[in-house]
Order: sequence, then C-alpha cells, then structure tokens
Amino acid sequence: MTATLSPSDIAKRASALRAAEMVEDGMKVGLGTGSTAAFLVRRLGERVRGEGLRIAAVPTSSGTAALARAEGIAVVTLDEAGWLDLTIDGADEVDGQLSLIKGGGGALLWEKVVATASDRVVIIADEGKRVAALGRFPLPVEVIPFGLRATMRLIGEALVGLDVEGRDMALRKAGDAPFVTDEGNRIVDLRLGRIGDPRRLGLELNRIPGVVENGLFTDIADTLVLGAADGSARVV
Ligand code: 5RP
Repeated sequence: MTATLSPSDIAKRASALRAAEMVEDGMKVGLGTGSTAAFLVRRLGERVRGEGLRIAAVPTSSGTAALARAEGIAVVTLDEAGWLDLTIDGADEVDGQLSLIKGGGGALLWEKVVATASDRVVIIADEGKRVAALGRFPLPVEVIPFGLRATMRLIGEALVGLDVEGRDMALRKAGDAPFVTDEGNRIVDLRLGRIGDPRRLGLELNRIPGVVENGLFTDIADTLVLGAADGSARVV
C-alpha cells in the first residue's frame, strides 16, 4: 500500500501509525480531521477489529464521524463522553512551542473544543508542517453568516497594529458557494505571512462579535509526532 502513496502521504501515515499506538484499551479518544487523521482513524479501525481494542471516540467533524463509523469504531458525542483521555489530530503548521495553525479542513471549531476537553493532545504531521514562525499557511477564522461583511471589516481593522506581515483575507469557497462548516458557519482565510505573537492574535480575533473561533491553537498541544518520507516517525 505504501508504494502508491506520495512522499508526503507516507510521512503523514507514519506519524498517524505511531500515534495510534498511544491509544489504550478503554480510552475516550478525540479523533481529528484531515488526511493525516484519516490514516489514524483507519489504523484504529484495524485495531478495533483485529485486537478487540475498545474505545469511545469523539470525532471533530461529520466527515471523521462517518469514517470512524465505517471503520467499526464506537462514536459518542462529547457530552456523552464528558472528558477525553487523549485527542490526536493533524495540523497545517506547527512551531517550536507547539503552537499550531489548524482549520485547513474547515473543522477548527469542533477540533478546538475537543482538544481543550482532553487530558492530552497529540499532533500528527509530516515534517513539512514544522515552521520557525506561524503564518505562511492562511489562518482560518470561523465566522457566523449574519453580518459577514461587517465582521470581515472588523477583522481587517483588528489586524492593524498586530505583529503580522500581510493583511489579505478571502471568504473560503466550496465551488461557487461559500464553504459551510459543521456548525453552519463560514470560514475566512487570513493571509498574514508571519505571525509574531500567535497568542495575542488569537485573543484579539475572538473579541470580535461575529467571530466564533480562530485556527490558532496555543497552549493546547502536548506532543508532536513528526513523520518523514522514509516512513519513520519521531516524537517531539
Ligand atoms: C482540519 C485540520 C487538519 O488537521 C489540517 O488541515 C491538516 O490536514 P491534513 O492532515 O490533511 O494535512 O485542521 O480542519
């Protein structure tokens, strides 16, 4: 199977397989969203079917929920689980403090809620996601549909004076229509170039009334598992 994967997918898969071994019988586990997380979900499905691993899984998107169910993994809501032992999720960028940009797949809101309701958060990624400073990847911000244009204007004003390089933004599209999140909201992608102070930027964005949440995850990740194109993975 590995032979058909791209180097980046081999790396993603390697990190996911390593993290899948951190899941223990009886755990309540948050399942991330994206292509790296999909490798994790498939591996956990193999463990459920092959080893009889018993977990209660809380998916971070409707897509991950569908995949987990198809893999035979028991899916519960976060309210049913109460609190999670472990969440494993991907990322779009990771810096040296384990601050992240997430939301490239549009699932940042559920991802942040699930991660912050977990005792431990493990991030799985290919080596290319590791950066010196966050911001090259456009920062996703989830906003409510009502008053979208006014909210985007306020986001632009809030960025002035913050330690960022650029200030372009775009409403994310899915074909001709706006992209719609699992909560019925919209995503605005901010092209910032370099984010000097991710914690401050995240707080400032969330002060704007129409903003629901942003894709900066600071002080959330505990462990990073980086996969390489040779199929190896290391815990950082
Ligand atoms: C989805 C996410 C993903 O974890 C992130 O976009 C990484 O995706 P991939 O594993 O496909 O590179 O935050 O909202």
